[in-house]
Parts: sequence; C-alpha cells; structure tokens
Amino acid sequence: MKRIVKAANALSGDIHPPGDKSISHRAIILNSIARGDAKIDGFSQAADCYSTLQGLRALDATIDVVEGGGLLVHGRGENGLSEPEDVVDAGNSGTTMRLMAGLLAAQPFLSVITGDGSLRSRPMARIIHPLRLMGASIWGRREDSCAPLVIKGGPLNGIEYRLPVASAQLKSALLIAGLFAEGVTTIEEPMPSRVHTERMLAEMGANIEVTGAKITITKSRLNARDVSIPGDISSAAFWLVAGAVHSDASIRLLNTGLNPTRCGVIDVLRSMGVRITVKNERLLCGEPIADLEVNSSALTGIEIGGDIIPLLIDEIPLIALAASVAQGRTVIKNAEELRVKESDRITSTVEELSKLGARIEEMEDGMVIHGVGKLHGSDCDSRGDHRLAMMLGVASLIAEGETGIDNSDAVDISYPAFWEDLELLRVS
Ligand code: S3P
Repeated sequence: MKRIVKAANALSGDIHPPGDKSISHRAIILNSIARGDAKIDGFSQAADCYSTLQGLRALDATIDVVEGGGLLVHGRGENGLSEPEDVVDAGNSGTTMRLMAGLLAAQPFLSVITGDGSLRSRPMARIIHPLRLMGASIWGRREDSCAPLVIKGGPLNGIEYRLPVASAQLKSALLIAGLFAEGVTTIEEPMPSRVHTERMLAEMGANIEVTGAKITITKSRLNARDVSIPGDISSAAFWLVAGAVHSDASIRLLNTGLNPTRCGVIDVLRSMGVRITVKNERLLCGEPIADLEVNSSALTGIEIGGDIIPLLIDEIPLIALAASVAQGRTVIKNAEELRVKESDRITSTVEELSKLGARIEEMEDGMVIHGVGKLHGSDCDSRGDHRLAMMLGVASLIAEGETGIDNSDAVDISYPAFWEDLELLRVS
C-alpha cells in the first residue's frame, strides 16, 4: 500500500512503544518448554512475534490469550512438544526461524521451517553448521545455506564454538540447543550482542554462566516465569530521531526498555548532539526501563564502527537519516551484517534516502553521509522492509512537501500502530 505523508508543523506528545519484539519471542519460546504456567504481559503485537506464536502452537504448545490482554503459556516441559503436521511458517522473522531451529534440532521428530521471500534468501548456514557440530540432522536449500530448513531432531552433544558473526539470533539458537545437549556447550562471541536470552534463561533456572565473552550452558530444566515486557527501544528509536531532527518537537517515550546491549542508538544520538533526558529509571522483570524525553536538537556528524554496531544494528537506517540532516560528515563502518537483514539495508537506505535529497554514498560495510540540512518530499519505497518503511515515515515528517511511501504496510512486521502513533504526534 502506498501512503502519502505530509511534513509536520510540529511534533508533540507521549508514546507507549510496543512491547519489545526480541523479549516477546523469547518469553513464549522458553516458557513453552518450561515446567508450569507463565503470564506474559505486554507481548508485542508485531507480525514477527505472531509467527513465533503460531510456530509454537504448531508444535502443540498451549498459549492462550487472556481477558484484558496478555498471554498465558502452559509450559509443556522439556519433552512435551510434538511433531508439526505441516511446514512451520516463520513469515518474515529471522528470530523465529533461527531460535526455533535451535529448539527443533533437539526434538525427537521431523520438522520443516520456511518463511517469506526475504527470509528464504537470508543466511542460514550460520546456524546449520554449528547445530550439525552438535550432532543435529539439519539441511537447507542452496547447499545448506537457505530456508526452507529440514530438521530431523535428536540427541545433541555440547560444543565449544566461537561465533563467526556477532549475532544474538545465532547465539540464542545455540543456547536453546545447549539446554538439551549432553555435556557442556560453550559459546564465544566476537563482540557483545543483545543478552535477553541469557538473562531469561538464568531467571528460569538454567545452568548458564557468562564469563566475559564466553557463555557456558548445560542440560537444564526450566521453570516457568511470568514476564512483563518493556517497550521496545528499537521502536522508540523512530521517535527519538523524529524528535531530534524536527525543528519544533518534544516527545516522551514511556516505559522504554534500556538494556545496555540495546542502547547504542541513545549513545550515538547523544554524541551527535541530541537532547535526550532519561527519567523514572526502574527495573521491570530484571530489565532496566525508563521514560525518555527528546527535544529538537542541532546535530553534527559522527564516525561509528566496531563494538557498538551490534548494539544498534537495527537502528542504522535511522542514524543515517539523522546524519542526512546533521552538520558535517558521518561515517558508518563494520556494518556489513546490514546486507543480510530483511532487505540489503545498506543499499536500500542509501537509495531511498537519496530520493529525498540526502547525499549518501554506499560502502561495502556501511555508508558515508554528508549532511545536507534539508530533505524534500518524493516517492520512495520500503521494499517490504519494516524498518525502512518507518525510517522513511520519520523522514517524511521533515521532508518539504509530501512523501509517497510504497509498501508502507511493512510496519506491521514490528510496529503495527506506527502510522497511528505518527499521526498522534503531529501538531497541525
Ligand atoms: C534479534 C537480533 C538481531 C536483530 C533482530 C532481532 C534478536 O539480529 O537484528 O532484529 O531478537 O535476537 P542478529 O542477531 O542476527 O544480528
């Protein structure tokens, strides 16, 4: 669907960002194989999280929607899942496919998992290879590199494995497989990535230890745990940037998750000169949360690369937008993982922002952006990538005139209320 968005005169208001997508996936996967029942509050309404929910139900997990919102997961225990009758569909969700592959590799039955065109083109050798080292029988299309994946689950053994990429999805797939494996599974990360799986596993009683870059897990039984899910910082980030780049803006983002492994975007925006105030800091189920306030700011260019990249990987298209209207040059490097996201996010960000007047050059592992101060409205296309659709939505709030965004409904993948929230903030 094409959506026409006009520049906003001003932006003001309070937003409750949707429940964290990463935590939502993990809360229902881990509680489905735990002992006992768990109430999940604030579960994300994102299509990606529903892919996980449907996938688990296909394995006979019982997840009920309770009155007044929230989910109730009736844990099946470590041996309680059943063979799916049909192919499991992960939709557009890499997290669903990779985390569930780790789970399915240990189940005593056959399963096939597929996804949409984007997901079927994304790299799966990164999970197939280590799961095979653990003893799994798992195959994929294109010489075991792409979905659909065929998994004949069975007994696994622990391995010592250094991840070739900093990927929380890969790390989590192996930790979930490690829950079922004989012996010790040790995973070493090249750089820190989001830690939600480790935190939740520890909370649920798994034998897991984190020492520096190494995580060790042994066969464990999980105890069900209620989870209250904080607002998603990756969704809140759209309004942080909107508030920063619009000349007349003041936005509050309530109950936003501030796990340090997700907050790279706040550090980078602050270094660019953005005024962000953090208020009411507290803990929600072991995760730090707070209310954030952002106001119109004068931005300057920045250089980013190295260890911070995994901590803001999903926010890079937005940082590129902020850099487009900043003063000076911004360099983003070591971000080659962007090429294997829902779209090639280096090419798509560069090409789509250029249509709005940004001066931006594509590099193999990132981009160089020369701030131009102003953008102009134009036709552009999300290419079916939810984060592109929302970044272009934010851009259109400051681009002179009107912007037409093709495939704007891609926002449903992570933030179905995105367009409503955008209109809520508009002061016309
Ligand atoms: C996610 C991890 C990241 C991120 C994705 C969600 C997760 O992917 O891009 O949106 O929930 O584990 P990688 O771990 O593959 O980098």
